[in-house]
Amino acid sequence: MSVIDELGAIRERALARIADATDLKGLDEVRVAVSGRKGELTAILHGMGALSAEERPQVGKLANEVRAAVEGALAARREELAASELRQRMAAEAVDVTLPGRRAPLGHEHLINSIIEEMEDFFCGIGYTVMDGPRVETEYYNFTALNTPPDHPSRSARDTFYVVDESEGADGLPTTGVIGESNVLLRTQTSGVQVHAMEAGEPPIYMIAPGTVFRPDQADPNHLPQFHQVEGLVVDKGITFGDLKGTLDAFSREMFGQDRQIRYRPHFFPFTEPSCEVDVSCGVCHGKGCRFCKNTGWLEILGAGMVDPNVLRMSGIDPEVYSGFAFGIGVERVACLRYDLPDLRMLVQGDMRFLRQF
Ligand code: DAH
Repeated sequence: MSVIDELGAIRERALARIADATDLKGLDEVRVAVSGRKGELTAILHGMGALSAEERPQVGKLANEVRAAVEGALAARREELAASELRQRMAAEAVDVTLPGRRAPLGHEHLINSIIEEMEDFFCGIGYTVMDGPRVETEYYNFTALNTPPDHPSRSARDTFYVVDESEGADGLPTTGVIGESNVLLRTQTSGVQVHAMEAGEPPIYMIAPGTVFRPDQADPNHLPQFHQVEGLVVDKGITFGDLKGTLDAFSREMFGQDRQIRYRPHFFPFTEPSCEVDVSCGVCHGKGCRFCKNTGWLEILGAGMVDPNVLRMSGIDPEVYSGFAFGIGVERVACLRYDLPDLRMLVQGDMRFLRQF
């Protein structure tokens, strides 16, 4: 084959391979095969010395044309391939901004807090304000100012968590037998907020005070050492037991529905006279009696009564001018009653399968 024919063949082969190349790497292989150090075209150029004088310019000219054609084809194909590689990569790595994002799991309020909020809604709706009080309280606010006598069993270290002052060489039962008004304790009831409310302002007082309370009880289906109450206090001129009953009737119907019965049962609390407990008919047996209501047909939800004149007097309110009623609602009890929960501990165990239902 003449050198001229050979050059023509090199061009055809190179152009065909360039057209067939599917990536930039393949293109570069073509370049090396043609004009690399050991390339076909390079070999011909190196062999030019052996050609005759008339062949040489002809071959030189053609070789340049072949090189230009191959380089032109390489450049054009390179651009094509680069563009298509970019297109492919863009398609593969594309982010669809119209897809919905991945949401972080969002929690919600605990059942106890949502019941408290519901109670706040009810009482705010009839003109009450919501108060807060200290959870670490003095004996005065938790007991003394609530007309609780010094020897009342609830004041003992068996029924109340006292905050021990180590510097005084406590013996484990720090305040037994020592009734001091400034002894510090974890409040056993929210009733102390009544005293704060009466000290803070003149009647009329219409307030509720939700909060955590503490008692040294072993956790079991019916007890928790830490639970919640919503205290209520009304002090105004001419407040009667009828006001108490009307208010708590409306509250109970709102919380439990019209079909539940409500009953007022006489009871004793040191800070109210007369006092009562309020029961709601059992939602499981509808009053017939079952294991859930211990066969009574009723479940207790709150204590209440007319504020004892002594309590008003100790907080600087004249019982000849003002009267009032108070109540304390057990929030966990309300939760149990509403949802027929068999065990209070379910509320604090943090089992999401349980908590998510509410
Ligand atoms: N503090 C009482 C308790 O923990 C509940 C209570 C009863 C609160 C009668 C009151 C009340 O305000 O009038 O058992």
